[in-house]
Amino acid sequence: MDKADRKFIFQSLSTIEGYIDPPDALVFQALLHCQQQRQMAGALAEIGVFYGRSYFLMKQLSKGHSPILAIDLFDLDEDRAGEPQQYQRFLDNGRQLGLPVDETNVIRGDSCSLTPDAILSRVGPVRFFSIDGGHHLHHVASDAALALECIAPHGIIVFDDTFNIAWPEVTVGVADFLRQHADTLCCFCVTKYKTYVCHRSWRDFYVETIRQAKQLSALERSEIEFLGSSIIKLHTPLGRRVMFEIMRRSGLGSLSGRAFR
Ligand SMILES: C[S@@+](CC[C@H](N)C(=O)[O-])C[C@H]1O[C@@H](n2cnc3c(N)ncnc32)[C@H](O)[C@@H]1O
Repeated sequence: MDKADRKFIFQSLSTIEGYIDPPDALVFQALLHCQQQRQMAGALAEIGVFYGRSYFLMKQLSKGHSPILAIDLFDLDEDRAGEPQQYQRFLDNGRQLGLPVDETNVIRGDSCSLTPDAILSRVGPVRFFSIDGGHHLHHVASDAALALECIAPHGIIVFDDTFNIAWPEVTVGVADFLRQHADTLCCFCVTKYKTYVCHRSWRDFYVETIRQAKQLSALERSEIEFLGSSIIKLHTPLGRRVMFEIMRRSGLGSLSGRAFR
């Protein structure tokens, strides 16, 4: 794997407050790299950027191949005057990482009120769409329907916080969505936190990509059934998680990647 990507995943990622950790970052790397190697066209997009942890990961991994659209309310972190500081912190993080935000591709507002054209007219069809915005049923239903209208035929939709008991409506929303579109869509991979979905015709391709990805070899894989398709479940063995956390917390971030070799 590209050294700069590895350094980003095991050192830079944790400097940004947010919610993607190395196992899913490695899955993002495997999928985006495979799409890029095969010159599969399309933009990247995320609903629910927060301070940009996965946005900057996608920016690092896509190597300027594709525009990245960031969608968020950006209404968090009010200062004493009641002004939200979230957007400024997002921009500052980009500068600090040397991955400046392309502000022409930022939508500040409620994703539930966006039309597919608001996305397609800016960045065109999307090959990798991360959904991590509002976590209630109506948000998930709306964001999933929006993403479906915007993805390329080979596009992937990634849902965050699935199977998380703190956010049960995300799981319900994703299951509803998959069942509603069972003839055309399916899940191909799940991790502890995320569910990866594509068009049925691309399922074998992405399952094989995950199977063959060298950077995922430290994760345990098993095949499970999920709503009519056989999918890969990736699991981080406890020993590796503990080793990673010990190294990271003792300031050995640069060595923490060894836990995933
Ligand atoms: C869990 S955080 C996202 C974490 C982020 N993906 C990361 O990598 O760290 C959820 C984000 O969704 C945003 N959000 C919540 N509801 C939204 C909505 N209806 N439209 C757009 N963004 C929304 C919040 O402002 C917040 O920044």
